[in-house]
Amino acid sequence: MILAVNAKVYYPYSFGARLLRLARAIDKVAKEYSITTIIAPPHTELKEVKDIVEVTKVYAQHLDPVEPGAHTGSVILEGIKEIIDGSIINHSEKRMRLDEIELVVSKLRRAGKESLVCAPTPNTAAAVAALRPSMIAMEPPELIGTGVSVSRARPETVVETVRAVKGTGFAGPVLVGAGISSGEDVRKAIELGADGVLVASAVVKADDPYVKLKEFAEAMVR
Ligand code: G3P
Repeated sequence: MILAVNAKVYYPYSFGARLLRLARAIDKVAKEYSITTIIAPPHTELKEVKDIVEVTKVYAQHLDPVEPGAHTGSVILEGIKEIIDGSIINHSEKRMRLDEIELVVSKLRRAGKESLVCAPTPNTAAAVAALRPSMIAMEPPELIGTGVSVSRARPETVVETVRAVKGTGFAGPVLVGAGISSGEDVRKAIELGADGVLVASAVVKADDPYVKLKEFAEAMVR
């Protein structure tokens, strides 16, 4: 089971001491519940987070689909590959063309790093499976950040995603996300066939991220 937290850029939660508190909490939960955990901090915070986690994988939230060279303001794999374990790609808040997704997925693969490609619908999720990322996360954009969970509001979409993606022969984990706020939302996602969840606001903005992460982890292993 995979619990992935995208810290986004929720200031001040996703930066500095607040983020490190979240990183320590997710690492603790990973060890306590023996689940795979991923944290995706803002690019500026990657190194600090990588330095304090022991078992949690550290992902970039995005990588630009460019080769090293004259690209002002770009974040490229080559620049951070010593720090990251992988990257989220094509998040709904940072969409990319299919050929750009392919470029970044293959660069990550060649570097021995993981790729978590996001898709807004079951069909798109099945389409990106052809690019052989490490994992796929389906998130209906309209539910992101709403607190209305994909697993409760769109259970059929979760089932359809798992069916469509696995139907391509893709053997990696299929995650779902958007609006996941409670252990019950997580439990439902797993029951519908997901291999884990990709979450943000409910954990990042929680009064105590450890308490919320524990609630999610418990629902995964129950
Ligand atoms: O990447 C995860 C994200 O888009 C889900 O956000 O706040 O609905 O959990 P949230």
